[in-house]
Amino acid sequence: MSLKVGFFNLQGGTGKTTVAANFAYVLSEFTKTLLIDCDVYCGTIGLIFGLEDKEHNLNTYLNGESTSEEIIYSYDELDVIHADVTSKAFGYKVDIDRFSELISEISDRYDIIVIDFPPNITEGSLVFNYIGEEDLINKMIIVGEDSIPGIINSLKSIDLANDFSIETAGIVINKFKNVSDLTEIADDLLAVLPYSEEVERQWVESAPIVKLNRRNKFSKSMIDFTHTISKELLEKDLTTLRAIRLAKEIGMREE
Ligand SMILES: Nc1ncnc2c1ncn2[C@@H]1O[C@H](COP(=O)(O)OP(=O)(O)OP(=O)(O)O)[C@@H](O)[C@H]1O
Ligand SMILES: [Mg+2]
Repeated sequence: MSLKVGFFNLQGGTGKTTVAANFAYVLSEFTKTLLIDCDVYCGTIGLIFGLEDKEHNLNTYLNGESTSEEIIYSYDELDVIHADVTSKAFGYKVDIDRFSELISEISDRYDIIVIDFPPNITEGSLVFNYIGEEDLINKMIIVGEDSIPGIINSLKSIDLANDFSIETAGIVINKFKNVSDLTEIADDLLAVLPYSEEVERQWVESAPIVKLNRRNKFSKSMIDFTHTISKELLEKDLTTLRAIRLAKEIGMREE
């Protein structure tokens, strides 16, 4: 069993993928982490980790062509499952049951599974299709932009997650330029990540910005945020999960 942390916002382009990828990369430096790109039609995780030419991906898996072993790629200490970054993505069947099988099959191997969600909640939006039935997400983190619409959409995204009984950890305001008054969302605010043009380099150089430049202002905030949240929010859950896992292992040995 692993702890599943999702990144979401109803609004597009807020930085969900950027934050999820960098969060997972930092986590992988000290805990066993898997990153899954659940944006099966517009996935871009493959670009950050240079996986765009790989034969297997989440789409081929959901279509029944690949095995779970084939779609997991290693990037430094991080394991990554990416979605097809080309227009071929539209040609695959999205079998939700297969996604559920995938999670239960690989869940035991990781402490944390980080999931990058698409902004929409239409058909093929993997979580929202069977939420409630499965323990798919333990914590949802909303990534919002520093603007009035950005804040409104972030609060709306929290409401939506709550309607689906998904626990939200709070909001990360990204691309911060000191535009918005954040006092309104103070209770939900987890972190503020600055706007930095250098973030764009990760798409060109196929590497997360925290790897390209640890001293970049976005990277520094990202590393702090990941460490803080893993301590404050995840440690308790992880300890519980590890204890359950250990108990199961001992139980199996005794049988
Ligand atoms: N802190 C930041 N500073 C500057 N640019 C950023 C920052 N965060 C993200 N970006 C840029 O914003 C754009 C959108 O980022 P990203 O793809 O991560 O957003 P997204 O929310 O996943 O988008 P989508 O809704 O399409 O999935 C990218 O070009 C990315 O490089
Ligand atoms: Mg994205």
